[in-house]
Amino acid sequence: MGPAHGTMTAFSTIVVALGERSYEIRIGRGLIAEAGTHLAPLLGARGTGAEMIVVTDRNVAEHHLGGLEDSLRASGISSRTIILQPGEQSKDFAHLARLMDDLIGAGLTRDSMVVALGGGVVGDLAGFAAAIALRGVDLVQIPTTLLAQVDSSVGGKTGINTAHGKNLVGAFYQPRMVLADVTALETLPRRELLAGYAEILKYGLIGDAGFFAWLEEHGAALIEGDAAARMEAVARSCRAKAQVVAADEVEHGERALLNLGHTFGHAMEAETGFSDRLLHGEAVAMGMVLAFELSAQMGLCPEADAKRLRAHLEAVGLAADAAGYGFTADALIGHMRHDKKMRGGRITFILAHGIGEAVIAPDVEPAQVERLLTRALAAHGAG
Ligand code: GLY
Repeated sequence: MGPAHGTMTAFSTIVVALGERSYEIRIGRGLIAEAGTHLAPLLGARGTGAEMIVVTDRNVAEHHLGGLEDSLRASGISSRTIILQPGEQSKDFAHLARLMDDLIGAGLTRDSMVVALGGGVVGDLAGFAAAIALRGVDLVQIPTTLLAQVDSSVGGKTGINTAHGKNLVGAFYQPRMVLADVTALETLPRRELLAGYAEILKYGLIGDAGFFAWLEEHGAALIEGDAAARMEAVARSCRAKAQVVAADEVEHGERALLNLGHTFGHAMEAETGFSDRLLHGEAVAMGMVLAFELSAQMGLCPEADAKRLRAHLEAVGLAADAAGYGFTADALIGHMRHDKKMRGGRITFILAHGIGEAVIAPDVEPAQVERLLTRALAAHGAG
């Protein structure tokens, strides 16, 4: 049984402050079952006759769609649902075209609201569709994975992949609200939970050494299912991201800090064909270690901080070491040359002066990166 219509259990609120486009991230337990109560006020003068179109995937639908639909119905909101194939392969032009046809063919109007229920793929694809359909219809994100709750659903990045790489076509398009229901994490496979944890850790590494220390203490409990620790970690992560996004929405500057570990990570994902062999968060975890080791090699950061990061990843069960995958330095650098962050022969990296002190380094010599990777990729088994 869901809650009675109109009830709301306690939740935390974080505001992404973007003037007229400001919105709330609400974090709590059971928010999907109460979604109608949270979302109805967003319809404003349109009234509850305006339609919500829920976009989700088959796996997420199995666990969460019924609860969401019941809740919308209980609030008098009419909705219909489009169910996508799960997986990264849905984030391409062909699937976008099909989704646009489904949305528009079934009578989407400017009063409609797209509700993205799912992980990063659903959020990115449905978000981009909402950005361009009829030149933009309202969007709500209901992230159901840890990665989506702490990163991809917040801040308005939407888009699809092309044959040349990930997320190369897209738009900054902010949602009207993000509802992060931490009970959704209970049905998440452990591997996906750990991959999302890497993005949580990222916020500590970028700008909050105290949060990193908190994660050293509570990270294992959070992964094992401690609901209070999950709430706290999601809220602290979203607060950190909201601040960065409010200061630099379209990534002219400090938002790039959120890409810590991502230049290495994307190269590793490209090398494994963006397949299940290596999840995004797993690549980011190893990429963050490489970013700290590169920082140490360049004399920017104490070696001890790179070791501390490595030790924490190992303690929670995330691989720290990229050496076991058969990557070569040349292949990874080759992928980096196609990254969005490449400018004039040099690669922009996010480096660090220490834990909690990340910096943008726009001018890293490929030779430095090659030296690091040659050493790191050969070190497998060396401890
Ligand atoms: N995931 C990085 C960003 O949203 O900027």
